Amino acid sequence: MRIIRAKDYDDMSRKAANIIAAQMIMKPDCVLGLATGSTPIGTYAQLVDAYNKGDLDFSTITTVNLDEYKGITKDNDQSYYYFMNDNLFSKVNIDKARTFLPDGMEADSKKACEEYDKIVEKVGGQDLQLLGLGHNGHIGFNEPSDVFKSGTHCVDLTESTIKANQRFFASYDDVPKQAYTMGIKTIMSAKKILVVVSGADKAAILKEVVEGPITPAVQASILQLHDDVTIVADEAALSML
Ligand code: GLP
Repeated sequence: MRIIRAKDYDDMSRKAANIIAAQMIMKPDCVLGLATGSTPIGTYAQLVDAYNKGDLDFSTITTVNLDEYKGITKDNDQSYYYFMNDNLFSKVNIDKARTFLPDGMEADSKKACEEYDKIVEKVGGQDLQLLGLGHNGHIGFNEPSDVFKSGTHCVDLTESTIKANQRFFASYDDVPKQAYTMGIKTIMSAKKILVVVSGADKAAILKEVVEGPITPAVQASILQLHDDVTIVADEAALSML
């Protein structure tokens, strides 16, 4: 694992955006695996800036997102579909027909997951997968477990994740309790993986991910087995390493 030390959140965002920009320049028809959460927001803002300056062209890229809440409509401002449009897709010249997320409104979990796996396969897999890190070590919505799940699956979100997400919803009852997420095999199939981590509250879990045993109890620890992982983390997040 390559660890890049950033001074603070802004520095992390600039460095991560530069890595994604390099990927897009080197391979204009690349497939980017994208992530949601608060951590990558600054990275997307930097990419939008680069686009506005004329440095980046999104017209030939394809994107596949990691996850989506189950049972949430696309126009709900907490859906990951809405998040991606709001933070990136609506602000750049991307072809919306080539942006993919699991279908949160498909009630049949098996169908939703199989269809999403087919999409990821059809586009040829991710050249670069961007990841955030959950406080419990989750990536996408692969929650702590006694197994690593391979393909897209429906997950029951853990209490800690529901509570962490509660700040975005009116009440606890409004927070979705399930999600569709890419599995660990699909994430690990990406040619390159870029993880963004910020803040002292992520320091303990980042240490476990990087230095701890590889275990499904800390799903991101599997990244130790990938050949091309870059972690861009700020000083606060790296404070325990
Ligand atoms: C959600 C997303 C994850 C993300 C995580 C961390 O649970 N499904 O993909 O990495 O939140 O979020 P944050 O970056 O806000 O800490």
